[in-house]
Amino acid sequence: MNLSTSLGTYELSTPIIAASGTVGSVVDFSDVIDFSLYGAATAKSVAPEPWKGREPPRIAPVDTGMLNSIGIQNPGVVSWVGMYAADLAEIPTDIWGSAVAHDPNGFAAVVSAMDTAGVAAVEVNLSCPNLDGVPFALDAARSAEVVRCVRDATDLPVGAKLSSDARSISAVASAVAEAGADWVVVSNTVMGAGIDPETRRPLVSGLVGGYSGAPIRPIAIRSVLEVARDVPGLPIVGCGGASTSAHVIEFLLAGASAVALGSVHFKTPRIGKRIIKDLEKYMDRHGVVSISELIGAYEPW
Ligand SMILES: Cc1cc2nc3c(=O)[nH]c(=O)nc-3n(C[C@H](O)[C@H](O)[C@H](O)COP(=O)(O)O)c2cc1C
Repeated sequence: MNLSTSLGTYELSTPIIAASGTVGSVVDFSDVIDFSLYGAATAKSVAPEPWKGREPPRIAPVDTGMLNSIGIQNPGVVSWVGMYAADLAEIPTDIWGSAVAHDPNGFAAVVSAMDTAGVAAVEVNLSCPNLDGVPFALDAARSAEVVRCVRDATDLPVGAKLSSDARSISAVASAVAEAGADWVVVSNTVMGAGIDPETRRPLVSGLVGGYSGAPIRPIAIRSVLEVARDVPGLPIVGCGGASTSAHVIEFLLAGASAVALGSVHFKTPRIGKRIIKDLEKYMDRHGVVSISELIGAYEPW
């Protein structure tokens, strides 16, 4: 049974990836999570300079999902490299750095610094819903400009993290692929908001935040289907509301080559172990020899 998959020429030992912002720096979670079960683990996004993030409240449960309005609190890339570079090699999977910035040159500066820290790939977070202004990922041309700048700054594989809030996620995916992205992550949180009737206060200080967890999975699956159909050949990391092996398989069947697990880590940090075990059982039951057989293999009615 072969659990390995690939994003173009980049190989992953398993199809599950830890999503950015849900396992800290990765190093911080290495005592709790067995990262050897993951094909890769993505660190929390880092900016060119320190950001203090938004005021509390930053996180709120909403029905079966959650809202977050963290605003990418981070120490800035220079401190990040100093704090974590030495420990990254100890993690038993590939670490992906995640870059965020207000402009293309800022993204390039973060990626250049991360390149020296021993990350295996970089994710360009074009889709943070908690920054002022319109997220890059809602605009194909602006997204491509960032990716072009990052592409010039590194030889590492580059993934672009997109948003299902885009009017056409396929148009953004196509633009970033042309600009040099090796794969796309489909997708980040969906923009959402909530208000407490008792206090009349918004649930998160930023008013609008990122909605994640189970309820966004159908939206993410729809986005994966669209990108797989419209930009054939562009590798996809599915992301949004996955918490079981069945969800991982659903993303693969829709056309993703790997699947990032996010909010589920807050409730069940050791979820990777169960998912891998259940994936193996499914493959056994369905006579699937290699996980790659499942990619895009849904049967239309
Ligand atoms: C508290 C929190 C913090 C997050 N921080 C980041 C981040 O720094 N960078 C990023 O690209 N995505 C970030 N995300 C988005 C997740 O990586 C993921 O794309 C999103 O939550 C959807 O997946 P899920 O429904 O499985 O959680 C964050 C999500 C949550 C809930």
